[in-house]
Amino acid sequence: MNETSKYIQDFAFSSQFWSGWIIVLTLGNILACWWLIRWTAKKRAGEAAEGDTTGHTWDETLAEYNNPLPRWWLWLFYLTMVFGLVYLVLYPGLGSFRGVLGWTHQNAYAKEMQAADAKYGPLFAKYAAKPIPQLTQDPAALRIGQRLFVNYCASCHGSDAGGGPGFPNLRDNDWLYGGTPEAITKTILDGRSGAMPAWGPVLGEQGVNEVAAYVLSLSGRQADPKLVEAGRKHFATYCAACHGADGKGNPAMGAPNLTDNVWLYGGSPGVIRQTITKGRNGRMPAHRDFLGEDKVHLLAAYIYSLSKGNK
Ligand code: HEC
Ligand code: HEC
Repeated sequence: MNETSKYIQDFAFSSQFWSGWIIVLTLGNILACWWLIRWTAKKRAGEAAEGDTTGHTWDETLAEYNNPLPRWWLWLFYLTMVFGLVYLVLYPGLGSFRGVLGWTHQNAYAKEMQAADAKYGPLFAKYAAKPIPQLTQDPAALRIGQRLFVNYCASCHGSDAGGGPGFPNLRDNDWLYGGTPEAITKTILDGRSGAMPAWGPVLGEQGVNEVAAYVLSLSGRQADPKLVEAGRKHFATYCAACHGADGKGNPAMGAPNLTDNVWLYGGSPGVIRQTITKGRNGRMPAHRDFLGEDKVHLLAAYIYSLSKGNK
């Protein structure tokens, strides 16, 4: 016998042993309860008659009576034990025995999800047939969209969709990948991945300082004119391909507009230098399989409605 099969056999034996151990403990406990209640109910020689005091007194006046347990209480006790046994036959609980119903956490969850889909599916399907601009006029649809957003998106984008460093604000009208209903839907269904290369190794510290100064100047902020001039050349060589010759960005690859003073990672000189030196790689996860197209449609309508008024 080789090492692996010996190991597997040992493992099978030990898990069998622990399973048996748990079965013995569980059934032993139930049996012990039954025995205890029988034992205490038994009459013993020299015991006080029912209804008499046992002769024990505390604090001079407090006496103990020898009264039997009330019938209803006893029955309740036996019923609990029967319930426990029936439960252990039906559901998992006795070691590795799965129970005759075959219940598991996974299939219980799957059943709940199926029931929810059967209940809400037709509702979502009704909205799926309507175009997004029309749904933004429908308060009931937007309420569902908002609820979905709070459940599935708020952990990253904030419960008011206001975003945070690295997580875009979805309320403003500034978009990395475009703010049309189609672009928003595609973002949510298939996810996005922003790839800003690290330029530190290429440009060196001085080069990064120069191009960072130029980036600051793009959004109309103060920067050393000499650095800005040098940075302009770097920008044309290294950055314009993605961010555009004018720095206005490119939604096809999610390159942000650098002229509007709206920042994904932060617009202070230090953060801009860090972004350029080390690069960034923001990832929006895909939700097609997880949520399905009908729910994403309602989510997209909600997101679209948030920014629509802020042209
Ligand atoms: C794990 C975090 C995370 C979750 C969860 C998440 N997002 Fe995102 N989302 C991001 C990041 C990060 C980006 C930016 C990607 C980039 O930098 O290229 C983004 C981008 C977006 C964009 C594009 C914004 C733009 O300016 O073009 C939209 C729209 C969006 N998310 C909507 C949603 C919705 C709706 C949900 C819920 C179904 C959601 N997100 C869930 C992290 C997340
Ligand atoms: C290959 C395409 C590409 C090139 C080349 C590129 N960038 Fe980027 N840049 C991006 C993308 C995509 C993002 C967004 C990253 C994300 O979503 O995580 C970004 C983000 C940024 C940001 C952060 C903006 C914010 O809102 O926080 C700055 C600043 C920036 N780039 C500057 C530059 C500079 C300067 C250069 C040239 C040295 C450059 N980029 C070259 C694609 C590029």
